[in-house]
Amino acid sequence: MIIIPRTPTPPPIPAPVSTVPEGPSAPGIRRHVLWSAAITALGGLLFGYDTGVISGALLFIGKDFHGLTSTSKELLTSILLLGAVTGALFAGKIADKIGRRRTVLATAVVFVVGVALAAFSPDYGVLLLARVVIGLAVGSASMVVPLYIGEAAPPRIRGALVSFNQLAITSGILASYLVDYGLASSQNWRLMFGLAAIPAAAMFVGMLFQHESPHWLITQGREDEARAVLRQVRDDSDVDAEIAEVRELSARTSTARDLLNPKIRHALTIGISLAVFQQITGINTIIYYAPTLLSSAGFGHSAALLANVVNGGVNVGMTIVAIWLLDRSGRRPLLLTGTAGMAVGMVMVALTFLIGGSHLHGAAAYVAIGGLLVYTGSFAVGLGPVFWLLISEIYPVTIRGRAMSVATIANWAANFVVTVSFLTLLGAIGNDGTFFLFGFLTLVALGYFARQVPETKNRSPRCPANPSRCGSRTCPTRRPRRTRCWCADCCWASAAPTSTSWRTATAGHPRAAIGW
Ligand code: BGC
Repeated sequence: MIIIPRTPTPPPIPAPVSTVPEGPSAPGIRRHVLWSAAITALGGLLFGYDTGVISGALLFIGKDFHGLTSTSKELLTSILLLGAVTGALFAGKIADKIGRRRTVLATAVVFVVGVALAAFSPDYGVLLLARVVIGLAVGSASMVVPLYIGEAAPPRIRGALVSFNQLAITSGILASYLVDYGLASSQNWRLMFGLAAIPAAAMFVGMLFQHESPHWLITQGREDEARAVLRQVRDDSDVDAEIAEVRELSARTSTARDLLNPKIRHALTIGISLAVFQQITGINTIIYYAPTLLSSAGFGHSAALLANVVNGGVNVGMTIVAIWLLDRSGRRPLLLTGTAGMAVGMVMVALTFLIGGSHLHGAAAYVAIGGLLVYTGSFAVGLGPVFWLLISEIYPVTIRGRAMSVATIANWAANFVVTVSFLTLLGAIGNDGTFFLFGFLTLVALGYFARQVPETKNRSPRCPANPSRCGSRTCPTRRPRRTRCWCADCCWASAAPTSTSWRTATAGHPRAAIGW
């Protein structure tokens, strides 16, 4: 029987649907886990590589395209992000229509086309166009790869894959820095762009051997196919329960209007705020522009690119530390200490420029680089991974896909605004003024996180029978700081948010309370 879906569903990442312990024991499951990790890695690598590679390329593009101004450099860097906003906006809808697998395949093709266009661009205009095309693919990958993994990977490893994705992003950035450094002597910016075709082609080939997301198949009424896929990648005993649960969940699919539900609005605001703070505290001004900044502060091109590589290495190293700590210390301690560290790093950089002037020599140069490393390392251990993890945890399942899309798009949009204005800002208020501003915004972020962001470490993945309890603990009734456990489906949804504090209404079943 073919069931025509009602409307295209939002891009959901359904909650773990099984309580039966599931592990990569059988060879089929193990193979599937490896494939899921590989696809995640390639999606993240492409995200990181394509956004990071511009940092070194910017130093050399001017030799072929003369007369590049700060504004044209800003545009070249940031226009990718406009493409990414658009890609993220439409990818979910396309994935609902043609399926996740085909959307990932199409994304890989767009990557290759964009990268080829960039590598062979005859003039600045074509290079701009190429960056938009690459951006479309980056945005699409940032949305569809986690979506596919969220639906296809065994529940037990989904959380790990979210953090693994951030590791892949930072590794992609580091790879692009190494390529930039390696090609600095030949100044071959075309090859810097072109090498991204390799992971894109690998993602295409890898995906050819993957099956369609079983959850998408279920929403299309293709349950027999879904069952066949699930039998290969799950324990047999789970399959029928999972199909029934996904069928039920998709029947309850929310609409965009549900995002405005007052019970959801607070969670939505937190997700968007995390997204915006992740960007307006300046991370990508460092990721994209550090070599430009260091060169204009008196460093040679090679030295600037080498410092960039070290920064990229710290980013990867601290992301690994974060992955190790996230489930031990929880999200909030990492978020708060990391954000405090970012403020310290920014102020160090700002003070160096304030005292040393715009050209740094001797000790001042090392202090500035030290500040950059403190800043990046602190971001990597906190706000970097914690943002992506929290937006996969704080929303009730029926709204999760849509709410995650909103946060992802907000993240790309804020990234665009910061990136497109950074060099102009440097010109207007100077290096010291700009970094003091980022330092100040980081402190504002810290205050907001301390007051509003909940701990999700021990959250129960499913609604407990008694809605006043989360797992073995009571639903939070105090400020998030005290929160020991979290269950987005119940506690969050049942929370009666106010603008200043956070109260919990535990009477009645929360799903009933919000009409799900
Ligand atoms: C951010 C990116 C950033 C990267 C740096 C990610 O979490 O979303 O914008 O470039 O971290 O590591």
